[in-house]
Amino acid sequence: ARRIWLTRHGQSEYNLKSRIGGNSPLAPAGEVYARCLSDMLIDRVPQDGDQRVPVSVWTSTLCRTIQTARYLPFFKLRWKALDEIQAGTCDGLTYDEIAQLFPEEFAARQKDKLRYRYPAGESYLDVIQRLEPVIIEMEREKESIVVVGHQAVLRAVLGYFMAKPLESIPTLDVPLHTLLELRPRPDGTMDFEYIHMS
Ligand code: F6P
Repeated sequence: ARRIWLTRHGQSEYNLKSRIGGNSPLAPAGEVYARCLSDMLIDRVPQDGDQRVPVSVWTSTLCRTIQTARYLPFFKLRWKALDEIQAGTCDGLTYDEIAQLFPEEFAARQKDKLRYRYPAGESYLDVIQRLEPVIIEMEREKESIVVVGHQAVLRAVLGYFMAKPLESIPTLDVPLHTLLELRPRPDGTMDFEYIHMS
């Protein structure tokens, strides 16, 4: 049976410093997760007779997802559309810095996280829209897929597959170092499980 696995990249240097966006490499704990992810997935790829079902790995074009996928022994594809929400003028800042430097922007995002668009950046609605071609391909694909993505992008993908209300998408729980396994049911809906790093 086909699986769709979603995971965020391992902890990055920016995650460690609580900075958003950027294109930083993995921190040491993120590197540990990358190795562990490979073991967790190899154990979970369903067997079809003697054969393991083929798997492809989709990453964003950012270095933290590419590094996280590095040890996965499967075919890999990079999608620009899987890149993290673009924070525009707030890229590289911490939430505290945003609150101090741009208090009105910070308040506007807290008020309506779904629709709020960063100056020269994106909103969750923008991300949901640009993910459409990727989601269509995910549905069309016959193989199992591992998507190594980012917090906002994976909230949107999870929200779509689990048919969550739009308003709930910006706060769905997609923690670091956790594999989300989606298993299609015959009726077209999905079973869903969080698998924490062992
Ligand atoms: O902090 C990691 C991160 O992926 C940022 O790059 C991104 O801006 C943020 O999460 C998205 O989460 P939220 O929408 O909750 O700010």
